[in-house]
Amino acid sequence: MSIATQVHRKTRADLPATGTAPTHPRLVAWLDEVVDLCQPDAIHYCDGSDEEYEQLVTVLEEAGTVVRLNDEKLPNSIYARTDPDDVARVEDQTFICSEDERNAGPTNNWMAPAEMKRVMTKLYDGCMKGRTMYVIPFCMGHIDAKDPKFGVEVSDSAYVALSMRIMTRMGVEPLKAMTDTDADFVPCLHSVGMPLEEGERDVAWPCSETKYIVHFPDERMIWSYGSGYGGNSLLGKKCYSLRIASVMARDEGWMAEHMLILRLISPEGRKYHIVAAFPSACGKTNLAMLEPTIPGWKVETLGDDIAWLRFGDDGRLYATNPETGFFGVAPGTSYETNPNAMRTIAKGNSIFTNVGLTRDGDVWWEGMTKDKPEDILDWKGRPWSGSTGPQGGRKDEKAAHPNSRFCTPIEQCPILADDYHNPQGVPIDAIVFGGRRENTIPLVTQSRNWKHGVFMGATCSSETTAAAKGAVGVLRRDPMAMLPFIGYHVADYCQHWINIGKKADEAKLPKVFYVNWFRRDDDGRFMWPGFGENSRVLKWIAERVDGRAEAVETPIGFIPAAGSLDVEGLDLPEEDLRAVVSYSPQEWHDEVPRIGRWFDTFGWRLPRELVDELRNLEVAVGRA
Ligand code: GDP
Ligand code: PGA
Ligand code: MN
Ligand code: MN
Repeated sequence: MSIATQVHRKTRADLPATGTAPTHPRLVAWLDEVVDLCQPDAIHYCDGSDEEYEQLVTVLEEAGTVVRLNDEKLPNSIYARTDPDDVARVEDQTFICSEDERNAGPTNNWMAPAEMKRVMTKLYDGCMKGRTMYVIPFCMGHIDAKDPKFGVEVSDSAYVALSMRIMTRMGVEPLKAMTDTDADFVPCLHSVGMPLEEGERDVAWPCSETKYIVHFPDERMIWSYGSGYGGNSLLGKKCYSLRIASVMARDEGWMAEHMLILRLISPEGRKYHIVAAFPSACGKTNLAMLEPTIPGWKVETLGDDIAWLRFGDDGRLYATNPETGFFGVAPGTSYETNPNAMRTIAKGNSIFTNVGLTRDGDVWWEGMTKDKPEDILDWKGRPWSGSTGPQGGRKDEKAAHPNSRFCTPIEQCPILADDYHNPQGVPIDAIVFGGRRENTIPLVTQSRNWKHGVFMGATCSSETTAAAKGAVGVLRRDPMAMLPFIGYHVADYCQHWINIGKKADEAKLPKVFYVNWFRRDDDGRFMWPGFGENSRVLKWIAERVDGRAEAVETPIGFIPAAGSLDVEGLDLPEEDLRAVVSYSPQEWHDEVPRIGRWFDTFGWRLPRELVDELRNLEVAVGRA
């Protein structure tokens, strides 16, 4: 404790409070500790009501963090600009602090929990001075699920409280359920890391250069410091529902995955449920609400980012979406590419971050309309025009940050499936992996069986995007699109996937596929039109599930036989189609050693099944 704070250390009873204080004994004890450490000026217990939403928007408006958007265009919606340096997840500063370093594995940053707590306790000491502490009770997944997953986030950001209300079941209901059943919860501590001295003026987007996103998987606890950006600060999302939940899932025999969930309906009315894992900014939100271009087929949405997979009594895997909102990439979203996202947003009640702002209080981003507006404010607040770029900046500077986001309630989605409300979830027919690869990976490949499917997922790769801080376009392995989200050792995670397969009858397991919308030609253009046209691939997947569509076996799995992919009405030259769909022996000859090097990083824990699959592939491509 510093000398200054020894003089008068505030307790929770000293603080002006709004809302109703909880009575849950372990929550009360934890809140007392947090107040003692962080020393906020006031405390607000969130109830999740409309009145509270209104109050918090006013707080943020007065602080200059947000502006209200034009109520006629986007009712009840707000606009925020972050600090230009706080725009994405910070993977370099994300830690898995397991007791045993070996349980964090080679893909995570690690520090001993005790040491990390020493470092962060210093940072947290007095970090909420001059600010209000928001207590945000929430539940990931249904409150009436068999085993509801509660959390409480304490944050000094009203932006976080508002966003959590969109993204999770938040407020009095989860708090009551948690209290009535004396349930455990995951304590999630968040601070923007910018205390205010007496009389010090706040900035519009407080944050700190020092950032830590820390998980204590053995204790099921999350500490986040220094960033207000969604992926770092909405702790129910990536931190809880993926990193901590993946550890819970390992221990409890289920799966927490970075997947969208959709329902595909054939013209005959047959329903297929498909989950798909793509890395951040690789097309999940778009695929989740796609509008099929093939006549008679329909898609309904269940989730766009996270899926929890559990076995049902019938021995099949069922998927639920633990979230209640979309936190989607804005650029590229338009009535052409993703009309259902546009319709969801148009109903309002949304938070837009780091997009462009029009003079009449509407939002704009690259790709939203063909014509670029001439007079708007860019994501840094500078006057920006489509023809000259920002005032005082370069002509090619974008109006919206490439990782700018909309945060919007899922219930506004016009094609939300009824079973979104079903705590059991939906039985999965197909699991799809994918990524951004300019070559090598064909449009769609089906695995030979579950084990081969796990190999496909474990060797997934993608070019990096703006969703995380760092270089964009660099090829990296991203197992099951979970690289930044696995809360334990990557080899154990792959082993868990294999074990899940052993628990079930192979015939009842979902079929596994690998897709790539991003193959490019020699001029760097995407060869596959993507978006709504991806329904053609979904149709082929559905027909494979039914054992109907014809396929050709290659060393990497089954690809569509000539004529089996429905391309009727598709405007794509035959040779381009062949190039996107085909298996390239030369490219795979080059790929296989890269997979070998990736597996070398797993160490001795690499599952034997994956070694076998790699050996088979090496033989098949002539690399043995
Ligand atoms: P998510 O972060 O995985 O949910 O990805 P999104 O669905 O938000 O898409 C990220 C970016 O990829 C956006 O700019 C999209 O416009 C773009 N995108 C999505 N699907 C496709 C596709 O099928 N083809 C192409 N070329 N781009 C796509
Ligand atoms: P995304 O979600 O997968 O939709 O990009 C946010 C993230 O992964 O950072
Ligand atoms: Mn994501
Ligand atoms: Mn998304």
